[in-house]
Amino acid sequence: MRRKAILLLAAVAALTAAGGGVLHRGAQARQRTDLARRLTGGEPDRAAGPMIAYGCAGCHEIPDLAGPRGRIGPPLRGLAERVYLGGVLPNTPDNLVRWIVDPKAASPRTAMPVTGISEAQARDVAAYLYARR
Ligand code: HEC
Repeated sequence: MRRKAILLLAAVAALTAAGGGVLHRGAQARQRTDLARRLTGGEPDRAAGPMIAYGCAGCHEIPDLAGPRGRIGPPLRGLAERVYLGGVLPNTPDNLVRWIVDPKAASPRTAMPVTGISEAQARDVAAYLYARR
C-alpha cells in the first residue's frame, strides 16, 4: 500500500516535472487518467453521476464538474499530491476508496458523513479525483 502511494506520488511528480516540454497537455492528462485507472481499478468517466447523487459536490468543490460547488469540506482539486486524507489517513488509492465509503471508520469525529456510496462507485470517484490536478 505504501509502495503504491510512493509510486503514485512519483508518477505525479514526474508528470508535473515534464511540464509542457515533453508531452502536450492532452497527452499528460491521458497518462494521468490511465495511471489513475490502474491504481484504483475505477473508471473516472462514471464518477460524475455519483458525485452529485451522493452529495459530494454539495460539500466539496470538485475539479471539472459542472453543478454545485460546496464549501463545507476542502476543495478536492490536486488530491493526488496530498499526503493525508482527512488529516489522518495516508493518501493511498485503497485508503481513498475507504475514506469515501466510510470516513467515520478512519476518523470518528470527522464532519464528513457516510453517504451510502458503494465501494465500486467510490473507486470510480477515486480514479476521477486522482486523474485531475
Ligand atoms: C456534509 C458534507 C460532506 C459530504 C456530503 C461529503 N463530504 Fe467529503 N469531506 C467533508 C468534510 C467536512 C471533510 C474534511 C474532513 C476531515 O478533515 O475530517 C471531507 C473530506 C473529504 C476528503 C479528504 C480530503 C482531504 O484533503 O483530506 C475526501 C477525499 C472527500 N471528503 C471526498 C468526498 C466524496 C467523494 C464525497 C461523496 C461520496 C464526500 N466527500 C461527501 C464533508 C463532506
